[in-house]
Amino acid sequence: MEEITVEALNSEKFIEQQVSAISETVGDGLAINALSGGIDSSAVTMLGHRALGDRLKTYFIDNGIMRQEKPEWIVSVFKDLGVHVEVIDARTEFFDAMSGITDPEEKREAITQTFYKDVFGRLVKESGAKHLLQGTILTDVDETVAGIKRQHNVFEQLGIDPEKTFGYKIIEPLIQLRKDGVRKVAEALGLPEEIYNRMPFPGPALAARVIGEATPERIETARQATVILEGELADTGAFQYMAILHEDRVTGMRNGERDYGTQIEIRCWESVDARTARPTRLPYDLLERLAERITNEVPGVVSITYGIATKPPSTMEVV
Ligand code: XMP
Repeated sequence: MEEITVEALNSEKFIEQQVSAISETVGDGLAINALSGGIDSSAVTMLGHRALGDRLKTYFIDNGIMRQEKPEWIVSVFKDLGVHVEVIDARTEFFDAMSGITDPEEKREAITQTFYKDVFGRLVKESGAKHLLQGTILTDVDETVAGIKRQHNVFEQLGIDPEKTFGYKIIEPLIQLRKDGVRKVAEALGLPEEIYNRMPFPGPALAARVIGEATPERIETARQATVILEGELADTGAFQYMAILHEDRVTGMRNGERDYGTQIEIRCWESVDARTARPTRLPYDLLERLAERITNEVPGVVSITYGIATKPPSTMEVV
């Protein structure tokens, strides 16, 4: 698949081409897609909606590992754009699938199977759709094919036929773009700035921010630290920032007593396309404020570190 660089991208022409390609592929049938509210899935939703109107069924899958935002927010943003979004509660299903899993790639695989086989499999059957539209971008494919990280949404490039494996075809209108190109297309599609300028957030969501088992309690710890981080770092203009719950416990103290607690690592990245990245040189007083707030406001956390390695050899997420 040939890359379309942000410099070479003509958004209007790209949109026109993708809308007609979607119409042609789906014919007079139905398609479904999952909207998380991130840039990629939002852009795909708008492309699909332009091509198919009500013949695109859009779902918000509440998998229990998303950021602290209410599905109602995304639903209302899209309602204003004329797109109806149905919320599906799949929290128990995802936590059951991840139960007991500590290996990062196994965790990603459990999420993939639950999404594509269980949840989408069911939605496709119920709706009668034959196609799933999704926002895979070129960087997802690169890293998966290179064997670095199995991105949750890559199949064909790994020799997996979604139709045989899951019973539906997958359409990927953004596959030639990287994040900067998707932002440009998302803006041209009329999405609000709070969406097209949104920080990237990975498909495996907070499960990618928890080293070791992703239990509801551990995800909640990462979620609460993320809320604080997103508030404090919003003005930095960084590409992406994240709070990571480590598996090791460390000795701390609280109210004069031993508190054998947990450790959060903060990462904040400068990047253009996520292929390479370097840590932001955050002001020290901001780091201190983060440490103070997270240890005070998130139960059980007694230690905070700041990741200062570059990508490569690090990757941006820890899982
Ligand atoms: P890494 O950790 O591979 O991240 O350096 C590069 C960019 O990709 C995002 N990321 C994902 N996005 N599905 C996605 O849609 C995934 O499975 C996934 N894993 C990582 C990550 O947040 C960063 O922006």
